[in-house]
Amino acid sequence: MPIQAISWSPSGAVRIIDQRALPEAEITRDLESAESVAEAIRQLQVRGAPLIGIAAAMGLVAGTRDLRTAPRKIFLPRVAQLSDLLANARPTAVNLRWALHRMAGVAQTTPGDGAAVWERLQAEAMAIWEEDRAMCRRIGEHGLTILADGANVLTHCNTGALATGGIGTALAPIYLAHEQGRKVHVFVDETRPLLQGSRLTMWELVHAGISCTLITDGAPATLMRQAKVDVVLVGADRICANGDFANKIGTYGLAVLARHHGVPFYCAAPWSTVDVTLADGDLIPIEQRSPAEVTLIAGRKVAPDGAIALNPAFDVTPARYATGFITDRGIVQPPFSDGKERESLP
Ligand code: MRU
Repeated sequence: MPIQAISWSPSGAVRIIDQRALPEAEITRDLESAESVAEAIRQLQVRGAPLIGIAAAMGLVAGTRDLRTAPRKIFLPRVAQLSDLLANARPTAVNLRWALHRMAGVAQTTPGDGAAVWERLQAEAMAIWEEDRAMCRRIGEHGLTILADGANVLTHCNTGALATGGIGTALAPIYLAHEQGRKVHVFVDETRPLLQGSRLTMWELVHAGISCTLITDGAPATLMRQAKVDVVLVGADRICANGDFANKIGTYGLAVLARHHGVPFYCAAPWSTVDVTLADGDLIPIEQRSPAEVTLIAGRKVAPDGAIALNPAFDVTPARYATGFITDRGIVQPPFSDGKERESLP
């Protein structure tokens, strides 16, 4: 696996690569508490829908470690309290609540005292991570079927090993194509305002020796008009039952461009990102982040004092713009249901 964005420290803390410092520095941080994990998620030290789900599950384990000897009636309320705290770190990526909902279910259904429940929670957090690693691989394998040898792919934000527990989602077919010696070239949107494309995706692809070109967010239109893009691959933070999906701001614009120029446009995501409790994209909570992320770049003012800035972190792409959804279950089309009556996530 190219890069590991998260792990356990020897003392049982959640060890992350602080992604804010990339590509200049590879800094690891040991997060001892659920509070510090929630703060790391809020500040995008750790980010990407699947990875923040994994980090939150591990944060719950780290945050209750010291309570292992407590009786059940003390331990369970603490799990619920820390789960709420972690769930409110960011609103859009459904993986965060999906993972915590699963952990809370395990806590409730595991008999015994704090020690017994804590052991199960640790095992469940690892299961969530392992499953994500396996889903990334399967997404890669299914995605390979739409990736011609020599393809020029355009991607947005970061959807690789820095955003998941494995090789990624939209980047997974690219990694597997490279692994198999197939030719692939990637155009990478810089992805303002926090530059996940230039800082993180380029770092991953250069690290892996994969041919890639950094572009500004304004360049895709002209590259498509020049027929230099064969396929667009993006990730997702939440996919609704009807197929509308949220992803990094700028994704919807890419979808419209791809449709206009007849370029196939795929969304790649694990099934844990599908939220069948939401009928359509208008219901997805969109995170609004600080305007300072727009008016400052790396601490330098790029707008005058007093400038008003808007900073929605995600947008919604209607299902009709997607050629298909590359998931661990195959390349699928909406509507989505998991066949199970699912109470809505908190
Ligand atoms: O704000 P971020 O960096 O967490 O946004 C991440 C994205 O939009 C990704 O495309 C998405 O989470 C999928 S990651 C596999």
